Amino acid sequence: DLGTYPYYMAKEIDEQPAVLRKIIQAYQNEQGQFELDKTIISSIENSDRIYIVACGTSYNAGWVGKQLLETIAHIPTEVHLASEFGYNMPILTKKPFFIFLSQSGETADSRQVLVKINAMGFPSLTLTNVAGSTLSREADFTLLLHAGPEIAVASTKAYTAQITVLTALSETIARENGVAGDGNMAHELGIVATGMERILSEKTAIEQLATDFLSTSRNAFYIGRGIDYYVVMEAALKLKEVSYVQTEGFAAGELKHGTIALIEENTPVIAIITNKATAGHTRGNVQEVSARGAHTLVIAMEGLEQQNDQIVLPEVHPLLTPLVSVVPTQLLAYYTSLHRGNDVDKPRNLAKSVTVE
Ligand code: F6R
Repeated sequence: DLGTYPYYMAKEIDEQPAVLRKIIQAYQNEQGQFELDKTIISSIENSDRIYIVACGTSYNAGWVGKQLLETIAHIPTEVHLASEFGYNMPILTKKPFFIFLSQSGETADSRQVLVKINAMGFPSLTLTNVAGSTLSREADFTLLLHAGPEIAVASTKAYTAQITVLTALSETIARENGVAGDGNMAHELGIVATGMERILSEKTAIEQLATDFLSTSRNAFYIGRGIDYYVVMEAALKLKEVSYVQTEGFAAGELKHGTIALIEENTPVIAIITNKATAGHTRGNVQEVSARGAHTLVIAMEGLEQQNDQIVLPEVHPLLTPLVSVVPTQLLAYYTSLHRGNDVDKPRNLAKSVTVE
């Protein structure tokens, strides 16, 4: 039900703070700490490496998941595209544990990998939004995303839900393993939900930025470093699929090694800056492209912002910044698509669930 919304994408972007709160509730114990099914945790504890397998937006969430699992739970984690993994399997460790990220739970590329690793006898967990879906039935374990039905073809709330459940998983593993962890993540995610609401209250300004930066351009760049790089990959995918603007999500430091040749007068370059350690260098990259004529838009976290930055994000835990930095990029994609007269919820050439390889 759309309610008062013109499109599901707009509704689903707005639902994200509520989804986060639902996940916190679903996965916390009476002490307000995350606690997940013990059998999942002990199976992961018995493994020596996690392999995340996914496609598209779920794959992009996987990269943030790697950062969470490695930093909070200290488990080496690799991230793989399902469509490549099945045919070109990397050398596996002795005791791999597989995590499939899939909103629909029906993606054929991911399923063919699951069939293969099931035949090899390796344990697996599916994070999905759909109880009883194929990937859920065929994996050993399931954790539900609790995001509610996602109808728009472009995935938004499933991305933030995946990162949130992966945070809960990382923290539970850390505690069971006696690793210090990174604070009380259930509490930190509550702060994130409030931060998301603040960004969502600034929609009018973001709609204006979509008009100013993206309404007529044929191409665009998103740049960032570290955890911001993972988010720009997702930001670029979102803008491409709904607005049809050719967009690259690029590691900010890598631009100068070739791709900066594409920067012309008025090329939109959007930078995400949420990390103190890399902010200075990314600022340098913004200046480099600006000196070559780029039309630069900066999305920066409070505390790291500068005077002319167009979007300032509320400060959150350093590992959870993707949950807030992605929101303005979803809105930029949405408004650009809307202004260009596209079918926001059903972009051309795409299907919600991709059941062919
Ligand atoms: C992008 C998008 C797709 C899906 C991908 C995987 O907005 O929706 O890239 O993320 O097809 O789908 P699931 O997560 O259902 O396996």
